[in-house]
Amino acid sequence: MDSPSIIIAVDGHSSCGKSAVAKDIARVLGLTYIDTGAMYRAVTLYALRNGIISDNGIDSKAMQSALNKIDIQLIKNRETSKVETFLNGENVEDEIRTLRVSNNVSALSTLAFVRKHLVELQQKMGEIGGVILDGRDIGTVVFPNADLKLFMTASPEIRAKRRYLEMQEKGENVSFEDILENVKKRDHIDSTRIESPLKKAEDALFLDNSAMTREEQLNWTLARLKEIGVDIPA
Ligand code: DC
Repeated sequence: MDSPSIIIAVDGHSSCGKSAVAKDIARVLGLTYIDTGAMYRAVTLYALRNGIISDNGIDSKAMQSALNKIDIQLIKNRETSKVETFLNGENVEDEIRTLRVSNNVSALSTLAFVRKHLVELQQKMGEIGGVILDGRDIGTVVFPNADLKLFMTASPEIRAKRRYLEMQEKGENVSFEDILENVKKRDHIDSTRIESPLKKAEDALFLDNSAMTREEQLNWTLARLKEIGVDIPA
């Protein structure tokens, strides 16, 4: 199978390394990486900045009418080769990863009209193929006919530790306990929401990477791709 037409879906829990696998596979096979979580995060950031999310919760009417004012682009930085998120033309890649956004994004992602809007956008971005997407509903809703579906997880403590180290590296002053609480809370909201909850597609391959290095999970995934006939560059 040719990489240019392939669609790969990676779903799983928060901070379980989905984006690491997706980025690595995209680099090896020359695919476009679509981080769908970044899109939910960008909408959340817009809502926080514009008072649509406040201490009183989400103003869902205001959110609905704001959707057509929100332009989201995922653009590859030519110097670093990293894909960065732009909200109405502004690079918000760092801001969407803050704990403030993480603490509000799951609640916003339960709104059916937000999901419908972003799913349509994701389908448009990926329909030509040559893509790997990560998220929560890629294999179940966005691309149910994807060529390969992965469902990833790792223990909450391991995931929180990875995110904690990542944020420390970025100089964000957060406690491990706050991150662990955020991870567990997001797992609960993501898996129990009515609208396309996080669940393994029947035909998805299960990958628990608790005891795997990044390289091991890349090799594991490349082996699965080879099994379905994808040419892997030497
Ligand atoms: O992958 P992430 O942690 O950046 O995603 C942030 C949140 O967005 C996550 O808690 C749930 C939501 N999300 C979703 O509902 N559907 C997706 N396809 C991707 C993310």
